[in-house]
Amino acid sequence: MTEQTNVNQIPSTPVKTLPDAQTVTAVHHWTDRLFSFRVTRPRTLRFRSGEFVMIGLLDDKGKPLLRAYSIASPAWDEELEFYSIKVPDGPLTSRLQHIQVGDEIILRPKPVGTLVLDALLPGHRLWFLATGTGIAPFASLMRDPDTYERYDEVVMMHTCRTVEELEYGRELVAALKDDPLIGEMAAEKLRYYPTTTREDSPHMGRITDNLTSGKVFADLGIPPMDAGHDRAMVCGSLAFNVDVKAVLEGFGLREGANSEPLEYVVEKAFVGDGI
Ligand code: FAD
Ligand code: A2P
Repeated sequence: MTEQTNVNQIPSTPVKTLPDAQTVTAVHHWTDRLFSFRVTRPRTLRFRSGEFVMIGLLDDKGKPLLRAYSIASPAWDEELEFYSIKVPDGPLTSRLQHIQVGDEIILRPKPVGTLVLDALLPGHRLWFLATGTGIAPFASLMRDPDTYERYDEVVMMHTCRTVEELEYGRELVAALKDDPLIGEMAAEKLRYYPTTTREDSPHMGRITDNLTSGKVFADLGIPPMDAGHDRAMVCGSLAFNVDVKAVLEGFGLREGANSEPLEYVVEKAFVGDGI
């Protein structure tokens, strides 16, 4: 068999000498722009589902090149999972997209973030609102039993341009029902509402539009959001976050934080060009 050479393939610099190195245990490419991978978990790393850490590789000069990444696996998992974009000229992801099982990445074990259950007041229904890779923190929270212990109902709204971009989330949600730890709770409480905006699929439209028109409430057979019962977590591009915040405020929800739990919290899925 002839070995194929990929001219775009840039080998990652080995990071073995660093104390924060972790070994890649699995890689899955979902589309030409999206992949997920798993790495070993530092024994000392404790985090709350929904938080993010800094991960990366060494650059050509041997210096760590790090970026923020939401941990997509739940707090109880023995390994760590990440869900990543591939930016063609991105300093990190132009390299990171080529990692293979057995390679090492750098992982700074200092988890932080606002998308944690403790940053919200108790309520009846919890909404996860995500675009693109913004589903990553909710991939963690959807697999955490604490989510279902605190809420009677959980709605995962995920919107992408195309159907294939939804696949990571779709498979994750489908696998939940067979999960020995949370299968029963998720089957009873989790409602999944994926939509596309630039390709036909069973449910279409932006999250903001489906909330303001009331379509999502009608489709799920639930009342419109209200500050007494509903809580929300938001993760997407800056433009999405700004627009969805206005919608949530329109329903009377107020933005909370770790230090002051209220009705919704927001995290950027990435920092956009020029922002
Ligand atoms: P960068 O120089 O960092 O980015 C180049 C450009 O690519 C950006 O200006 C932006 O326009 C675009 N871009 C970057 N990231 C994304 C993205 N995720 N989706 C769409 N466009 C993007 N990225 C993930 O893939 N998964 C995560 O779980 C994740 N979690 C994050 C959590 C936080 C709190 C923040 C602030 C960012 C997160 N990011 C995540 C973005 C990540 O930190 C990097 O920006 C991304 O890995 C690209 O790195 P890069 O060096 O290749 O390009
Ligand atoms: P649209 O196709 O109508 O722009 P992107 O791939 O550009 O990051 O977008 C991911 C998804 O988020 C797309 O479905 C996109 O819809 C949607 N989106 C982008 N910006 C906003 C916004 N300001 N409000 C609501 N949805 C948005």
